[in-house]
Amino acid sequence: MEDAGVDGRQTGVIADGETVVDPPRDFCERAVANDEGVYDAFESEGPAAWERAAALLDWETEYDQVLDDGDPPFYEWFTGGELNAAANCVDRHLEDRRNQLAIRWFGKRGERRSYTYLDLHREVNAFAAGLRDLGVEEDDVVTLYLPMIPELPIAMLACARIGAPHNVVFAGLSAEALATRIDAADSSYLITCDGYYRREDAFNQKSKADNARLRADADLDAAVVVDRLGDALAVSLGSDEHAYGDLVDAHDGETVEPVARDATDLLFVMYTSGTTGRPKGVEHATGGYLSHVAWTTRNVLDVRPDDTYWCAADIGWITGHSYGVYGPLALGTTTVLYEGSPDYPDRERVWDLIERNAVTVFYTSPTAIRSFMKWGAEYPDAHDLSSIRLLGTVGESITPKAWRWYREHVGGGEAPVVDTWWQTETGAIALATLPGITPMKPGKVGPSLPGIDARVVDEDGEPVDPGEPGYLTIDSPWPGMLRGLREGDERYRREYWIEGEDGWRYRTGDGAAVDEDGYVTILGRVDDVINVRARRFNTAELEAAIVDTDGVTEAAVVGDGDGRIVAYVTTRSDVDPDDRLRDAIADGLADSIGDVARPDRIVFTPDLPKTRSGKIMRRLLEDIARGEEFGDVSALRNPEVVGEIESAVREDA
Ligand code: PRX
Repeated sequence: MEDAGVDGRQTGVIADGETVVDPPRDFCERAVANDEGVYDAFESEGPAAWERAAALLDWETEYDQVLDDGDPPFYEWFTGGELNAAANCVDRHLEDRRNQLAIRWFGKRGERRSYTYLDLHREVNAFAAGLRDLGVEEDDVVTLYLPMIPELPIAMLACARIGAPHNVVFAGLSAEALATRIDAADSSYLITCDGYYRREDAFNQKSKADNARLRADADLDAAVVVDRLGDALAVSLGSDEHAYGDLVDAHDGETVEPVARDATDLLFVMYTSGTTGRPKGVEHATGGYLSHVAWTTRNVLDVRPDDTYWCAADIGWITGHSYGVYGPLALGTTTVLYEGSPDYPDRERVWDLIERNAVTVFYTSPTAIRSFMKWGAEYPDAHDLSSIRLLGTVGESITPKAWRWYREHVGGGEAPVVDTWWQTETGAIALATLPGITPMKPGKVGPSLPGIDARVVDEDGEPVDPGEPGYLTIDSPWPGMLRGLREGDERYRREYWIEGEDGWRYRTGDGAAVDEDGYVTILGRVDDVINVRARRFNTAELEAAIVDTDGVTEAAVVGDGDGRIVAYVTTRSDVDPDDRLRDAIADGLADSIGDVARPDRIVFTPDLPKTRSGKIMRRLLEDIARGEEFGDVSALRNPEVVGEIESAVREDA
């Protein structure tokens, strides 16, 4: 396997005083999944076990094969079956719960909007009709560039209804990033908005979208613009641009027959950082993805129709797709959508939303939990959070301390906390405890879910001993898996798959260790991807943007283990490494990638530590950023630079 990086350094984490927390008895009695036989059932039934997941959906045509593995690593799930994702998330709930809330939305300015399933049905249909009117046909990729407003899930569902795959681009990404994704996805339609509030200020999203259209190679056929800001921001629409409100009004009351899609047809594409500087387009198929998402929303997050469930992730990323939109709506529950940041207008916000909505299941990231801890327990403690039944976390490792804090102050000391591991590519949760069955170990994600064959292996693909670091792989296909990459089959195979003696193995890119009980500890990425602020970045992509700044010669970017981006930068000898340059670097990153990519620290250094072959020792830089001990540096071509970097880091702090 490429790239070392699993160096045993973190094994201390594994050894250190472990606690095991049993699922609370009350919870187990009422849990969706409380029969431990489920593990054995999946084990003995093989892929057919996933029929349970498919059975959570309504199929237009029954599938004839659960898994077609005839041409690995190109796997196809539920072949021969036909279904429509929007019909599954909306129409089928009309019979039993048309007046139940589907979406409760809270805006940054204290606005509220609620959609019952009937409302959702009406607007999704009207917008689907509007999209058709603009010329959108089955299989046309539609790019969505919207903040957390109800029109985002509505547009996703409208696309799904007419069989047009969506390509959601996080609203905080830059014009350039949007242009790249429009071109790469070969998309001819864009749905965006006038703007949105960033704290107090009205921010112009439309001008970013306009800018992207100028930069993109492709000419769009049409764009739709949602009016989020009303009078706060006036934007003018071009001749091929249509106001969302007008389109929906013009088609109000129309119904559009949901298009029956093959289970293997594309539901959406989502761009994510890979091992090169260019993002890659992960493709998810309709049947397998939706089955896996629905099954895990029920069995891992314990969500049912009468829940009020809140996944705090932005819909611009995979968590929001799977567990903010498709999972909860497929199950017919009420999902909370929040536009703002957790500390706006104040630090009561999250707890106030949980209290006023009696949220029962809350799913967020360790990054958010760290902020909550920093702000203090007095905020959650001042609210009645007794409605909470289950807590979830995703995106990074959570420390045992943060896990306990979360359970204590948000979960009333009682609620199970599920630490869920998965990726854009896995589509849905792959490792986690089943909260009504499996004991929890704070700081470790659970064992593989039933039906997921995750292993921790060495360079040769052999399982490592318990506690030893290795590479996390998944050794058989699973329904939510990506069906391919937009960049083609070769890239898909090269990026993810290794052919071993006993079959194909999916490479996650994560380093991990597994304990005697099969619980996995994630040790971080072993490739050039960093996870910070619950986002995934490719270091080469960030570094390329920094090196574009005038005066910069070289850059290396690392995560500091605490959710921050640290950039080490060398400059031309005639350039002053001053605050102006710092700002220029940060602005450059914001411009080419988005504000989310602004580094937290920029450390100027005369040189970067390199091996004799000229490779930058990113590991060493990571250790320095984390303030950790590091080993022998004598193998470096320029060992003297390490001391200088350390003092630069100290000065800068
Ligand atoms: O490194 C793992 C980390 O996030 C990566 C996937 O990032 P992304 O595709 O953006 O999806 C994030 C949300 C699903 C993984 O390769 N990761 C995800 N969940 C966990 C995690 N690391 C530790 N613990 C987790 N629970």
